[in-house]
Amino acid sequence: MPRKYVAGNWKMNLLKEEAEQLVRTLSENYTANPDVECIVCPPFPWLTQTKALLGETGIQLGAQNCAATEKGAFTGEVSAQMLASAGVRYVILGHSERRALFGEQGAVLLEKTKRVLEAGLTPIFCIGETLEERNAGKLEQVISHQLQEVLGHLSLPEVLNIVLAYEPVWAIGTGVTASPEQAEEVHTFIHGWLTKTFGSEASNVSILYGGSVTAENASGLFARNHIDGGLIGGASLKPADFLKIVNAW
Ligand code: PGA
Repeated sequence: MPRKYVAGNWKMNLLKEEAEQLVRTLSENYTANPDVECIVCPPFPWLTQTKALLGETGIQLGAQNCAATEKGAFTGEVSAQMLASAGVRYVILGHSERRALFGEQGAVLLEKTKRVLEAGLTPIFCIGETLEERNAGKLEQVISHQLQEVLGHLSLPEVLNIVLAYEPVWAIGTGVTASPEQAEEVHTFIHGWLTKTFGSEASNVSILYGGSVTAENASGLFARNHIDGGLIGGASLKPADFLKIVNAW
């Protein structure tokens, strides 16, 4: 059985005190649940303070990006090893904003994924189609391509250390959520691709859904067989909503 996750992607939001306040409220109100891994992904400068404030709550720390290279003269970059030494456990990679706005494609995402795995961390690898691609009937082609160009170059043990997130680009930050049926259809396709490529063990890879998940629609999505949790943007900035999503099963 795939493990269940709810991860909050704060994106480029919150100043120091605001980030502190959010983590304090989460920590005070969170009750650990062994069945669901709860993760927050703050911007880089707030990682260490967030780690300290999370203390023994059991909430895990994630980052939103990392360098494709290991170390050295790469001004402005942050390595996976640095993240590991800051107490980070998860790294979001391949988010559609990184793909669309920063030109990150297969080759660089494969390198980043390798660096994250080498550092002993878990990539949360995002894939998803645009509305144009969906309307043109290219959904499965796009998803297979995004999987193939990264996971297709990894081994089964490596793939078992990855969490996937299906995030249709048309649903991110738009208030338009994929229906549970639409999401389930794609998640089933992804689990099918995984078992076809790596064998039945790969059906244990968790696939999160992301794109306008709210406290209201989370339980309908999470009730589906192939939906193993959520990657939450906007709603992760509101602690009460985020915790409702964490408890939505
Ligand atoms: P959203 O973002 O929940 O605000 O749509 C999701 C994401 O980008 O991961």
